[in-house]
Amino acid sequence: MTVRVCITGSPVSYSRSPLLHGYWLKAYGIDGEYGREEVPPAQAAEFYRSLAARGYAGCNVTAPNKEIAFSVLDEADESAAILGSANTLWLDGGRLCGASTDGYGFIANLDATVPGWDGARKLALVLGAGGASRAIVHALVERGFERIVLANRTLERAEAIAAAFGKKVVPLAFDKASDVMADADILVNCTSLGMKGEAALTVDLSRLRPEAVVSDIVYVPLLTPLLTAAAARGLRTVDGLGMLLHQGVPGFERWFGVRPEVTPELREALIADLRA
Ligand code: ATR
Repeated sequence: MTVRVCITGSPVSYSRSPLLHGYWLKAYGIDGEYGREEVPPAQAAEFYRSLAARGYAGCNVTAPNKEIAFSVLDEADESAAILGSANTLWLDGGRLCGASTDGYGFIANLDATVPGWDGARKLALVLGAGGASRAIVHALVERGFERIVLANRTLERAEAIAAAFGKKVVPLAFDKASDVMADADILVNCTSLGMKGEAALTVDLSRLRPEAVVSDIVYVPLLTPLLTAAAARGLRTVDGLGMLLHQGVPGFERWFGVRPEVTPELREALIADLRA
């Protein structure tokens, strides 16, 4: 029987998940479907509770429904439980289970594209304090970073995330980020700055050490002003597309029983779509 899965959220039209999972379904010759469902927040709880009745084996969840999806789970994995949010749902004997795979995707992408990026594990500088930032901070704590400085325009949001993780995570005002730049092993942009249609993220990269890695979660455009500036300084850079590709791996494996590979050909297919 065809295994049916979909991406849910509102708006959901921009999501590249159908392309990603459709590519893997074809590549592995699996009898499966990955569709798209516009699910406004007011209908989200009911939608996720009735996933099986709707004929779905599972789904992905995007903004603004990740917290609602978490709230209706029968079982949450550790990352979803810590973040209070879920982006990957599946059914296990009638029980609705969920995980948050953004942090996994972030780390798996770095491991794949910049081997040794976490050699020192002393200090990570994370810009922004939304949901993506929270997932990435958690992943960096898990990876064993000694200190994670979280710089955000609204200091209270950085403080709220830091409070959930203990002393290792230090909140900072956004305009003070350059103060810790010299000690950072990795700089991660989790703000929406640099995204197509938004202002560029302009931070002074001159204090970063040459070994530092600069990573952006924005992937439209692929080469953000931040990554362009970092590359011009000869720093190692990591774009946001790889995180998107890797975060899809655990869900695909759960639903369809094959652990899919993130290949250069897959990346090229997504890039062609982003350019179209
Ligand atoms: P997510 O998709 O990760 O949940 P979000 O909640 O929309 O993202 O958060 C966007 C992030 O970009 C926030 O950290 C936001 O800062 P505030 O918390 O102060 O709003 C940041 N951001 C957006 N525009 C910004 C700007 N012009 N300058 C600095 N930070 C900005």
